[in-house]
Amino acid sequence: MHASARWAVVSAANRRRSSWSSILHLPALIFAVRVNLTMLSALGWRSQSQCGRIGLQMKPIELGGRLGRWSSGRGPLPVLLAARLRRLIDEGELPPGEPLPPDRALALALAVGRSTVVAAYDLLRRDGRIVRRQGSGTQVAGTPRAAGRPTTGAPLFLHLLEPRDGVIQLTCAAPSAPPPELAEAYTSIVPTLAGICGDIGYHPLGHPVLRTAIAERYTRHGIRTGPDRILVTNGAQQALSLLARAFLTPGAPVLVEAPTYHGALEAFRDAAGVPRALPVGLSGLEMAARQHRPALAYVISTFHNPTGSVLSPLARRTLAETAAATGVPLIDDEVLADLGFPGEQAPPPLAAYADTVISVGSLSKIVWAGLRIGWVRAPEPVIARLGRLLAVHDLGGNIPGQLAAAGLLPRLEPLSQRRATELKARHDHLLAELARHLPDWHAPPVQGGQTLWVRLPHGDATSFAQAALRDRVAVLPGNGLDASGRSGEYLRLHFLASPGDLTEAIRRLAKAWHTYHPQARVTSPAALTV
Ligand SMILES: Cc1ncc(COP(=O)(O)O)c(C=O)c1O
Repeated sequence: MHASARWAVVSAANRRRSSWSSILHLPALIFAVRVNLTMLSALGWRSQSQCGRIGLQMKPIELGGRLGRWSSGRGPLPVLLAARLRRLIDEGELPPGEPLPPDRALALALAVGRSTVVAAYDLLRRDGRIVRRQGSGTQVAGTPRAAGRPTTGAPLFLHLLEPRDGVIQLTCAAPSAPPPELAEAYTSIVPTLAGICGDIGYHPLGHPVLRTAIAERYTRHGIRTGPDRILVTNGAQQALSLLARAFLTPGAPVLVEAPTYHGALEAFRDAAGVPRALPVGLSGLEMAARQHRPALAYVISTFHNPTGSVLSPLARRTLAETAAATGVPLIDDEVLADLGFPGEQAPPPLAAYADTVISVGSLSKIVWAGLRIGWVRAPEPVIARLGRLLAVHDLGGNIPGQLAAAGLLPRLEPLSQRRATELKARHDHLLAELARHLPDWHAPPVQGGQTLWVRLPHGDATSFAQAALRDRVAVLPGNGLDASGRSGEYLRLHFLASPGDLTEAIRRLAKAWHTYHPQARVTSPAALTV
């Protein structure tokens, strides 16, 4: 039997063993399988449709993502690849019995020669981690057993989990140091901390002082808000994941922009929601609401991640009013809203057009992600429900940080002006370097935010990102950011690094590009676009 056909048989066996978890995660898995099917067919990987599995096993491209910065260490590529696979096996990410992709398919996904994969598999076979039989494919050694809950394979998160290693990171976009104002804010709360009594320190909804400061900020911006409408979270990521848990049941559709923030897609999938792609700005929401009865819709209206676009006031009004009229809870992610370049005035947030909009904010981009202060602004019943959900997982956030954040909030203006000036300079620098070294890449300028959405003239961004990694620069390929699967030729680059690092990153990317020979193209699974 051909190796890929055998892979299908092993998959079927594994499918049986994980049937319960498969049912529980069915919609999310159907989504993942569909996206990957398309990618794989583009990579010449035909056995997927034959086996039709809805299991938790990985496909070459997903496995490629899970390998993280596998190629950045010292030593020959086969040794590095084997070491990373060994680690995934030992950590249980690749469980016993897991079928591994055929040599050629994995080689294509990793943009390496087939001999690299063959040699890596051979090393693993010799130390007993995998079994490999002529014609029957490759699988992790050992007897299959019940699989645990799947973890994330999103490159954004995996890069954060890796230790620093000399690879220039153009993946996770956030300021590289806290501003002096943060240290000052901490200093100023010391007397308050010293004077606390009669407060056991658990505040699942957030410390009242910070809830009030956030509410007052909205009110200053023309959106009347009381503290009862605010929930403080450990960054906006926790806010998104709580909202996903509050609104999504397994299989529930979520309308998302294509592309969008990867972390939101992961939060929705983690809650077994099914992302349904609409164009950036969620145009078409009304028809999609009728067709799919979504449990949630998610938009980044201002300095969109990754495209940098800003919704016009008219589009905002239409979107907010349509969501309210159709009863679709709409999340407006405002995390990047304060990052307009000098002179760029963003329109009011969506909550200004409909009070039912759920706003998510954070100090991560304007102050520092290490502060871990985010929030949700929503109608009181939603806040109360989120609070009950949050209390089960986390009895409350760090109170000294919340008090410092409360002190900072009324004084953010000068800080955001400084950031805006610096971001604009770096944006211009990155564009200039791209024009000089990679003139055939299409990189439209933006008016704020942190990222450029760059289209490659040919090839596939997922395999190019693997090639770039070997030149010690990490970039986010578009596919993982796009529930429609249509962003296979896009890369997300951020412009937060120092000018020196940006120059060096583009030099490395250009070097990788000039030796990159694409062999396959990733296309889209149309079924996910509404
Ligand atoms: C659009 C968007 N939303 C949410 C987040 C998560 O931010 P936080 O650090 O506050 O969790 C990010 C981080 O990059 C983001 O870009």
